[in-house]
Amino acid sequence: MRRKLAAGNWKMNGLSAQLTEVEALCAAHPDPKVDLLIAPPATLISSMVVTASDHRLAIAGQDCHAEESGAHTGDISAQMLKDAGASHVILGHSERREDHGESDDDVRGKARAALAAGLKVVICIGESLEEREAANTLDIIAGQLAGSLPDVLTGENTVIAYEPIWAIGTGKVPTLGQIGDVHDFIRTKLEARFGEGVGRSIRLLYGGSVKPSNASDIFAVSNVDGALVGGASLKASDFSGIIKALE
Ligand code: G3H
Repeated sequence: MRRKLAAGNWKMNGLSAQLTEVEALCAAHPDPKVDLLIAPPATLISSMVVTASDHRLAIAGQDCHAEESGAHTGDISAQMLKDAGASHVILGHSERREDHGESDDDVRGKARAALAAGLKVVICIGESLEEREAANTLDIIAGQLAGSLPDVLTGENTVIAYEPIWAIGTGKVPTLGQIGDVHDFIRTKLEARFGEGVGRSIRLLYGGSVKPSNASDIFAVSNVDGALVGGASLKASDFSGIIKALE
């Protein structure tokens, strides 16, 4: 049985004053029935770890470098995230792929480094609007899965987030049928590559304009084990509504 996971990605949002939102979230869910994860900007990881220290809220980085250390100004290694108290890292988000030209190979290299450092990975995949309109969604998803996932992983250390690029921050959400088709397809691919046991144990999140108002419907779709939430994770009240829909 896969545990449900509500993950928030704060992206490039949040100053220390916003840690009050995390305090409020922890207070609203003292004994959560699902796993909770927030990925703040790197500047807030250490302080958010302290804020959440008495709570089962895990903290994630939003990216890491594939190498352990070296001359890479501005980058952060997986070990550094771990050292700061993070337990997870989001990799291959479409904004990283778009803004920083990250390829599937890059994502796989980062995932290997993160797993080697003892972090759990949340690997993002998803098609553009043009790819969907050209009926290429499943081919794109298959390619991203094949290229971005390392060969050795487990359901314990790996989560996959399906995020159609056109649904991110737009208020547009695929139909429940479209979400189900992609999640079922991902599950089939994972079972084929990693075997039934591992393939069935990897959690699949949906991401893209998830709100308290649409969360229950999305979470009822087969093979949706939770959500990766952007904008609606910034306010405790909104994120809490999504968590309640998952519990
Ligand atoms: O990582 C989160 C996703 O990009 C979804 O963002 O909930 O603001 O659409 P959103």
